[in-house]
Amino acid sequence: MSELLETNGLKKSFGGIVAVDGLDISVEAGELVGLIGPNGSGKTTTLNLITGLLSPTDGEILLNGTDVAGKPPHVVSNRGVGRTFQISKPFGRLSVYENMLVPNVSLDAEERDERIHRLLDELHLAEVADERADALSGGQKKLLELARVLMLDPDLVLLDEPAAGVNPALMDDIIEDIKRINERGTAILIIEHDMSVIRSLSERVIVMNAGKKIMTGPFEEIRADERVREAYLGGT
Ligand SMILES: Nc1ncnc2c1ncn2[C@@H]1O[C@H](COP(=O)(O)OP(=O)(O)OP(=O)(O)O)[C@@H](O)[C@H]1O
Ligand SMILES: [Mg+2]
Repeated sequence: MSELLETNGLKKSFGGIVAVDGLDISVEAGELVGLIGPNGSGKTTTLNLITGLLSPTDGEILLNGTDVAGKPPHVVSNRGVGRTFQISKPFGRLSVYENMLVPNVSLDAEERDERIHRLLDELHLAEVADERADALSGGQKKLLELARVLMLDPDLVLLDEPAAGVNPALMDDIIEDIKRINERGTAILIIEHDMSVIRSLSERVIVMNAGKKIMTGPFEEIRADERVREAYLGGT
């Protein structure tokens, strides 16, 4: 049985900087996994490698056992992997609704419209459907990115800091939304600095430091671990 996602010896150098340094992580189908680590530990670079925005210097990225390392983003997306960005990038001049038309889904117009309205409803965006995306709050932009990714009905969604810059009231909604999406069967790998979010969401947490996985386990276990404390306190 292969994992949904598995990286083996994944490596990315930028000149002299080794951002990801022999990373071995995996996500099972339907799992909800947190990815944490100090600033600059290589989390976003890892997502960029998995989604094909960057080519690895070395290593494998297996999706259901097939290596997609170095494959372009549309190939990875077609294989059921969606992602959101640390800084959300909706098309600002398009309306919320129009942003939802961007993913190339294989549905007829009516089914597509149905899915758009269901997702906008579910992610608290129905009342701003006709607003320009650049008029949304930071949290709403993150929700729009998530809604857009879900148009493609992915098996795995990678979230890069969905709580950053989101007001606390909306944050509770976003946490519930992520849980619900996961309970319907979508695996989620979530990068987050807010430990209360990680604690309430993650079944398992992967901790990175200096481009490597230093441990993985349930939240309470990793929180008590000396290596994790050192990574956060000691710098790299
Ligand atoms: N395109 C790039 N060119 C050069 N160096 C880069 C590039 N992208 C990332 N880096 C470097 O790689 C390292 C890892 O960066 P990355 O953004 O992956 O960290 P991160 O864990 O996501 O950090 P944060 O928690 O601050 O978002 C850092 O030293 C960063 O400066
Ligand atoms: Mg990052």
